[in-house]
Amino acid sequence: MPQTILITGGAGFIGSNLIRYILEERDERVINLDALTYAGNLESLADLRGNPRYEFVHADICEPDKYAEALGRADCVLHLAAESHVDRSIHDPSAFLHTNIVGTQLLLDAWRRKENPGRFVYVSTDEVYGTLPLEPTSLKFTEQTPLSPNSPYAVSKTGGDMLARAYHHTYGLDTVITRCSNNFGPYQFPEKVIPLFVNNLIEGKPVPLYGEGKNVRDWLHVLDHCEAICAVLDKGGTGEAYNIGGDNERSNLELTRMLLDLCGRDESFIKRVPDRLGHDLRYAIDASKIRDELGWRPTRSAWPDALEATVEWYKQNRTWCDHVRSGEYRRFYEQNYGPGA
Ligand SMILES: NC(=O)c1ccc[n+]([C@@H]2O[C@H](COP(=O)([O-])OP(=O)(O)OC[C@H]3O[C@@H](n4cnc5c(N)ncnc54)[C@H](O)[C@@H]3O)[C@@H](O)[C@H]2O)c1
Repeated sequence: MPQTILITGGAGFIGSNLIRYILEERDERVINLDALTYAGNLESLADLRGNPRYEFVHADICEPDKYAEALGRADCVLHLAAESHVDRSIHDPSAFLHTNIVGTQLLLDAWRRKENPGRFVYVSTDEVYGTLPLEPTSLKFTEQTPLSPNSPYAVSKTGGDMLARAYHHTYGLDTVITRCSNNFGPYQFPEKVIPLFVNNLIEGKPVPLYGEGKNVRDWLHVLDHCEAICAVLDKGGTGEAYNIGGDNERSNLELTRMLLDLCGRDESFIKRVPDRLGHDLRYAIDASKIRDELGWRPTRSAWPDALEATVEWYKQNRTWCDHVRSGEYRRFYEQNYGPGA
C-alpha cells in the first residue's frame, strides 16, 4: 500500500511544488500541514482539492495537539514549514526563533513519541554555513564546513538543523538533513527577489537592488530541489546531511540584468538601495556527496532557459500574482475549507 508523507509548510513556495511533484511522479498520499502564515497560499494547490491522495490540515507546528491525529497516520515527514524571509528576520527575529527552532523541536518530539516513527527529513539551507569570499571561486560549502550562520533567519534554521541531528544522535530517530541553495520557479511569494523583480518590471516599476549587486547566489530550480529531497527520503543515510546545489552561481547584478532583458526593460529600472544588514557575500554549494552517493543531478536548472521559463510563468499567471499582492489569496481557505464551503 502506498505510504503517507506528511509535508509541513506545503502551502509555501517549495512545499507546494513538492506536493505536486510527489502526486505526479510518485505513489504516496500527502498530508499538507500548514499554519497558513502570510507566506502560505492554498491557491497554489487549488487544482488538488478533491484529489483522493491529498489532504490539507490547518495547524501550527508549535501546537502538537492540533496535529497529533495527522501525525499518527503518517509514515514519514518532510519538514519545510518555516519563517523564511531573511529581511523579515532582520526586522524582527522572534517569530523565526519560535517557529524554526521551538516549532521544529515540538514536531520532532511529537514524531519520536509515536509508534515506529519513520524517516524525518529536515529541509535546511546553505545559509547555515555563513558566507564565502568572492575568490577563489573553487571554494564551496561542503557538509564538513563549520556551521556559522550570520542572519537571525540562518541562526534559526541552524537551530532546527542541529535539533534534527541531535534527535538522531540522542534518541536514535531516523533524521536526515538537506542543505539547499537558493531556489527559483513558480509559486514563489513575491517578496523574494525573482518574483518581486519580475512583477515590478511587468508593472513598469523599478527594482530595488541591494548595494552594488555583488552578492553571489547559487540558483537551483525548485523541482530539482524537490527531486533531491525525495532522493534523500528514499536513499539518504540516516543521521547524514546532504548539500544540494546547481553549480549556477550568479551575482545579484547579473541576475537583475537577465530579468531586465527577459522583461524588455533597460537599466534605468534599477533602483539602488542600501545594502541588507550583514548581507552574506557569496554562497556556493559542493553537491558531490548527493551526486555520488544518491545519484541525484539537477536537470531543470540550466540558465538562461530555466530562468526564462520561470519569468514566463509569472507573466502568464497574473491572477495568482495579483491575488498575492492584493491579499485576496488569504480568503481562499475560508472560501474553500471554512464553514459551509
Ligand atoms: N526558498 C529557498 O530558496 C530555500 C532554499 C533552501 C532551503 N529553504 C527552506 O525550505 C523551506 C521552505 O521554503 P519556502 O521558500 O517554500 O518558504 P515559504 O515561506 O514560501 O513557505 C513556508 C511555509 O511554511 C508555513 N509555516 C510557517 N510557519 C509555520 C508554522 N509555525 N506551522 C506550520 N506552517 C508554517 C507557511 O504558511 C508557508 O506555507 C524552509 O524551511 C526554508 O528554510 C528554502
